[in-house]
Amino acid sequence: MTLDRRTFLEKTAAVAAAGFLPRSAFPDARAWAPLPRAGRVCVVASSNGLRGVKLAYDRILAGTDTLDAIIAGVNITELDPTDQSVGLGGLPNADGVVQLDASCMHGPTNRAGSVGCIEEIATPSLVAKAVMDYTAHVMLVGEGAKKFALAMGFRPQNLLTEQSRQDWLRWKANLNPGDAWLDRRDDVKINFTHGTINMNAVNAAGDVSSVTTTSGWSYKIPGRLGDSPIIGAGQYTDNAVGAAGSTGQGELCIKACASFYIVEQMRLGKSPEQACLAAMERVMHMTEARWLDGRGRPKYDVNFYAVAKDGRFGGASLYQGGEFAVCDADGARVVKSAYLYPNSERPRE
Ligand code: GLY
Repeated sequence: MTLDRRTFLEKTAAVAAAGFLPRSAFPDARAWAPLPRAGRVCVVASSNGLRGVKLAYDRILAGTDTLDAIIAGVNITELDPTDQSVGLGGLPNADGVVQLDASCMHGPTNRAGSVGCIEEIATPSLVAKAVMDYTAHVMLVGEGAKKFALAMGFRPQNLLTEQSRQDWLRWKANLNPGDAWLDRRDDVKINFTHGTINMNAVNAAGDVSSVTTTSGWSYKIPGRLGDSPIIGAGQYTDNAVGAAGSTGQGELCIKACASFYIVEQMRLGKSPEQACLAAMERVMHMTEARWLDGRGRPKYDVNFYAVAKDGRFGGASLYQGGEFAVCDADGARVVKSAYLYPNSERPRE
């Protein structure tokens, strides 16, 4: 039997009135109450965001909106040709084309924007924000995302630096000993990255934002989207709770809805660090056998970063040795991440 919308509404209202439906969609109202605001400004990012967290922190203290401040922070890395995981100079896809992903969320207005597989635009974080600010959409990809960026005044440029082109050629020449590419050398180390920059911030009023931007998995299949442009995977903000984001192997973060999960764990009372560790457990729960070694240890790494509305922060990696960048009243610094597994358990290459 199908119900038209009106009949459905009348029936559910009658059921609710009879007391058969919960009055609130949130069963435990206390768990969903906003966290108290302590007015502590804090910016947290992946470790490649050390310069960015300082810039964003200073801008927030000067009154800049949290999202504008952290986007200015990640722009430093996007425009740095020596960082091969993001923006200009990012390692290309299998065809030698740099395809970038980014997304952002603005807590005070509950808005989000995202671009995926965008080419020739060095600052996809700003294009993601333009999607958020100037369209009714959340996500644009590929050629459409680039067309939109050009219409918004972004300048196209070649993002493949000479260093990244050489790395791509080396990867290609080492794919298969029988193919027609020359100069295969067993002693050459191929440069791979799942690197990314994620940055999250809270201001003195307790307003929160997040942004993530990346060139994704090096030499990926053209068209591949990682976690970075996926709202809830690569980053997530709820202004009542806090913000979180991820770097590392994106496919696992997508399946775990990792950033959303971290924010929800903070909502339920976990500290940012505990919430990041809970998301690590969740990632492991969702990991397919082919990504595990004989002892059940993952053959990849992921990293999470989180800030709570009250200014507490935390980070976690699967393996010992992870670090992240933070800036608060104690200054900008790199701190050690919590972890699930000691380094001694990391699979040998
Ligand atoms: N986390 C970045 C990516 O996998 O694309």
